[in-house]
Amino acid sequence: MSGLSLKGPIADDQMMIWEDAGILIENGHIHSIGKYSDVLPKAEELKAKIIKLEGNHTCLPGFIDAHTHICFGGSRANDYAMRNAGKTYLEIAKAGGGIWDTVTQTRRATQEELVKSTIKIANRHLKNGVTTLEVKSGYGLSTGEELKMLRAIKDVNASISADLIPTCLAAHMLPKDYLGSAKEYLSEISTKLFPILKKEQLTNRIDAFIEESAFSKNQIVPYFQKAKEMGFDITVHADQFSPLGSEVAVKFRAISADHLEASTQKEIELLAKSNVIATALPGASLGLGCNFTPARKILDAGGALAIASDHNPGSAPMGDLLTQATILGTFEKLSNAEVLSGITFRAAAALKLSDRGQLKEGYLADLNIFHTNNYQDILYQQGAFKPCMVWKNGEVIFDKHSKT
Ligand code: NIG
Ligand code: FE
Repeated sequence: MSGLSLKGPIADDQMMIWEDAGILIENGHIHSIGKYSDVLPKAEELKAKIIKLEGNHTCLPGFIDAHTHICFGGSRANDYAMRNAGKTYLEIAKAGGGIWDTVTQTRRATQEELVKSTIKIANRHLKNGVTTLEVKSGYGLSTGEELKMLRAIKDVNASISADLIPTCLAAHMLPKDYLGSAKEYLSEISTKLFPILKKEQLTNRIDAFIEESAFSKNQIVPYFQKAKEMGFDITVHADQFSPLGSEVAVKFRAISADHLEASTQKEIELLAKSNVIATALPGASLGLGCNFTPARKILDAGGALAIASDHNPGSAPMGDLLTQATILGTFEKLSNAEVLSGITFRAAAALKLSDRGQLKEGYLADLNIFHTNNYQDILYQQGAFKPCMVWKNGEVIFDKHSKT
């Protein structure tokens, strides 16, 4: 995935493929990559341990899921059943479902319980090749409860092999138990919570859900202004049901604008002209039974497209990034190169990470090995084909062939 452009369409024949390849790893990073016969002398010189994979294998960079909400309490299985039985968003909310239900259940969980459940989910994704995951708060919705979530995410990051990139989503919705206005809530979060996020180094990223059921553009502008002043990076839940968030994302030079199911040509062009990464979340379309992000149009307009799972208990309960990315490719007519870029180097850019997402000298040795000699098989099996071996920072963390 190296040498490809960050923006616009990519054809499969632009991907560089090494046959009979070798990868030399030193200190968790790729020291050199190329023909096995060229890499071998360097490995011998460094007295490296040699692991030879016999038979047919394909190696890709570790996958990067740039948008998840995997830290949560409880379940929303009843929402899913009600939605599929034809109930509306409002009817589900009235029956006690929706984001607020997860907030209630997350508040009931202790930090330790959240750590435990998040480790379980993150390790499942890691085994499927996701070596870096973004994880949002947003089910606490008060200074103390958001801190509990972000501290839990920090603890998880310290105790598992995958890298977690935390994001504060205190602006997910106006908490139902908050006595003041949306303006007052956001102002309280930015004055009380933001300084603690900096002090405890809990996150450098601020997200907001701009939507009729959440926050308006006008409410979010001063919130993002404060975040920017304090040096936070911005990311936005944009244009999910109505085309409201992209404009704000571009205005604030956000790192990414995510969702975009409702983006029109106007938003698509606005994003394409900017440096904001457009992140499609096919898992939310599959969970809600609604249309996909116009990924083809975004690429053709010259945009940068990342693909993430949005794994959350409500709108995107599946969480399988590879499956969702390949399905988006089928519906949106994306090349293999475009789908794989969306979950590797373009996803890295959506998290402002410049050390991963490519098999390239100096990059992290985060590797996914698949048991095939044809890379096309990977997406062809629509997510059912999983890696037989996953490496993180130069260590094997999953090996299907090993007995232990
Ligand atoms: O990204 N769009 C808003 N937030 C989440 C849904 C969270 C939930 O339903 O719990 C999303 O889809
Ligand atoms: Fe989301």
